[in-house]
Amino acid sequence: MDFSLTEEHIMIRDAARDFAQTELLPGVIERDENEEFPAEQIKKMGELGFLSMMVDPKYGGGGMDAISYVLAMTEISKVDASAAVVMSVNNSLVCWGLETYGTEEQKQKYLTRLAKGEMIGSFALSEPEAGSDATKQRTRAEDKGDYYLINGTKNWITNGRTAAIHLVIAHTHPEKGHHGINAFIVEKDTEGFVVGTKERKLGIRGSDTHSLLFTDVKVPKENRIGEDGFGFKFAMKTLAGGRIGIAAQALGIASGAYERALQYSKERKAFGKEISKHQAIAFKLADMKTKIEAAGHLIMKAAWDKDQHNNYDLSSALAKYYAAEMAMWVTTEAVQIHGGYGYVKEYHVERMMRDAKITQIYEGTSEIQQIVISRSILRD
Ligand code: CAA
Repeated sequence: MDFSLTEEHIMIRDAARDFAQTELLPGVIERDENEEFPAEQIKKMGELGFLSMMVDPKYGGGGMDAISYVLAMTEISKVDASAAVVMSVNNSLVCWGLETYGTEEQKQKYLTRLAKGEMIGSFALSEPEAGSDATKQRTRAEDKGDYYLINGTKNWITNGRTAAIHLVIAHTHPEKGHHGINAFIVEKDTEGFVVGTKERKLGIRGSDTHSLLFTDVKVPKENRIGEDGFGFKFAMKTLAGGRIGIAAQALGIASGAYERALQYSKERKAFGKEISKHQAIAFKLADMKTKIEAAGHLIMKAAWDKDQHNNYDLSSALAKYYAAEMAMWVTTEAVQIHGGYGYVKEYHVERMMRDAKITQIYEGTSEIQQIVISRSILRD
């Protein structure tokens, strides 16, 4: 077993770290405060290839492995979790979903533009009444011969306003249950498609999360992804990889908060010495470090499984579950170590604590990961 990173991995990690420090750190507090999408920064991330890292170079992507992606995601998330979720959705869900299951024509038309950073996409699965229970899609895609007619509403969609294409999950044959679900590529300018309300959120306030409304939206047949009825499997397969990205986001948020808490604890004095010299704080730091390392190993294992073409349903759920819980705990402790300073915006850790919360909710709540994990244990 070899835990060392390759030279290329180190180069990618360092490039992402530099980008995060020089381009994302300035203004991150203000963007959070003003709920401002990091448009300029996302454009640069696209130009630098951070939004299509694993896409085959023949479509214009970086051709990198999942380990590189995890390293870059972690570095970006240490600084700006809002930019990181845009990166995660575009890489793991949109690009990967299209590259793995799209037709050559779909790849030439959409993936090549995603890979060049000319546009970003969204993954529209969640609905007002179909969050965790994703089979209960109410959005309908009626088969009209050479096109589908989509009607319905999607909720909490990351990149909702900025995406040029949306991967939309909808029911075509409700009588067939989840076997009647399809996935479609819907262009944002299609008649009948409207971007709805922007969500006012606790965290990741810089990302644009919207509802999407579909009224008699005509989608050509060639925009369906996979065979008729493949939509639910498409969503599940894609989300398994997405969970590695979100786990890396959680790891990054936790690591960012830990690094700040560590630094602060060496500077701040109380009762005659630096607070890091008090066991109450030193033990907290030890626990934070241990949990961060453990999450890092679970995530790398899941990324490695993906790179080896092993099944990664279980390893991605383990990584996402543990990393999200860990991030919530670590960021809360980072605020605690900062005391009163931790509660104000200038010290970053309160934002990180708010940002960490979403990692326990999206791309499958912690309870959904527990379902995936427990089913796997009980099946074996
Ligand atoms: N790969 C392939 N197929 C899979 C699969 C996987 N990982 N997981 C399930 N399936 C298949 C099953 O084999 C089954 O197919 P068959 O009937 O042909 O055997 C079918 O899907 C249904 O499976 P289940 O009976 O296990 O389905 P379930 O209703 O019990 O639910 C679940 C399974 C894991 C709980 C699933 O509903 C789930 O993952 N829910 C969470 C949804 C989610 O993650 N939403 C995130 C929204 S996207 C987002 O957040 C993006 C963002 O903006 C950041």
